[in-house]
Amino acid sequence: MASETPTILVTGGAGYIGSHAVLALRQAGYEVIVLDNLVYGHRDLVETVLKVELVVGDTSDRALLDDLFASRSIAAVMHFAAYLAVGESVQNPGKYYRNNVLGTLTLLEAMVAASVKTLVFSSTCALYGVPETFPIREDQPHQPMSPYAASKGMVERMLADFDVAHGLKSVCFRYFNASGAHPNGRLGEDHDPETHLIPLVLLTAMGKRPAIAIFGTDYPTPDGTCIRDYIHVCDLADAHVRGVDYLLRGGTSDVFNLGNGNGFSVRKVIEQAKQITGRKFTVLERDRRPGDPPILVGSSEKARQILNWQPRYPDLRDSIAHAWQWHQVRHG
Ligand SMILES: NC(=O)c1ccc[n+]([C@@H]2O[C@H](COP(=O)([O-])OP(=O)(O)OC[C@H]3O[C@@H](n4cnc5c(N)ncnc54)[C@H](O)[C@@H]3O)[C@@H](O)[C@H]2O)c1
Repeated sequence: MASETPTILVTGGAGYIGSHAVLALRQAGYEVIVLDNLVYGHRDLVETVLKVELVVGDTSDRALLDDLFASRSIAAVMHFAAYLAVGESVQNPGKYYRNNVLGTLTLLEAMVAASVKTLVFSSTCALYGVPETFPIREDQPHQPMSPYAASKGMVERMLADFDVAHGLKSVCFRYFNASGAHPNGRLGEDHDPETHLIPLVLLTAMGKRPAIAIFGTDYPTPDGTCIRDYIHVCDLADAHVRGVDYLLRGGTSDVFNLGNGNGFSVRKVIEQAKQITGRKFTVLERDRRPGDPPILVGSSEKARQILNWQPRYPDLRDSIAHAWQWHQVRHG
């Protein structure tokens, strides 16, 4: 007999955002199976902390997917599995197109074959390139500046086509900068190599890195450094649960920004991290990096309206404090 509790397959659930979504899904009453190849994910997170089933495998393994969909009653897929280092994608685009695009295509074809037609997808604000107006809305043009961003745009296009052809319904969430950690101190950001500002600053505060570099201090912003929109990872997870609820209730395919609507400069992040950690550390000023837009701040009005989503942790200090708590547990 089919289980009455819907089961969600979470690809990339052993990673940073996916693991928070798994916990949020469990708390909302869903059953969860994680599919992760563990290239960057963490087995103990799924098995010991989240205590859900882990299938170690790749989204490009069609036989494994067919078997998974045939042997379980899966209501929907949350698809986090991807590579996400922008700089690496410029050096090695094939790695990104193969994993992020071909891996997703294999997943979509397996879903259609198994009549699983509900998917929530992790997209990115990097699709907007260097926008001219703020806050960025969903209908602004796509100008991806890296193979990573382009790979996400290609998947969004595939999802639109799979809806027309096969009735596969999807919600694409374009995240701004994911940040923070679960306040329970057991889930957090653990990328290797790490490329994101807040964990880099905190690793520097812990003495694990010699210094933090600011890339560009002459941008047309109030303090000359880049401004970004930091969205707490638990708020992203909450939006994902709302996204899957929305689709399982019969919602149509749609695309939503997920951001705070507030921008914080690199200097402001560093200043707040110094206050929260109480640590002194070295800050270096370097030249701009090619391709970094001066400002990325999004409007999430659409998610607020349609999904009734409201960030619970809009204050950057919460993101930094929760991430600091996690880093002390993880690396202390
Ligand atoms: N972190 C951010 O700020 C951010 C911003 C925008 C979008 N995103 C997107 O969110 C998603 C999750 O990001 P994250 O920060 O949690 O990354 P992460 O690296 O922590 O998690 C991704 C997980 O996917 C797994 N994985 C990768 N390719 C796979 C494959 N082919 N098959 C099975 N498993 C695979 C990895 O092992 C890892 O556990 C990604 O799709 C990313 O592009 C992240």
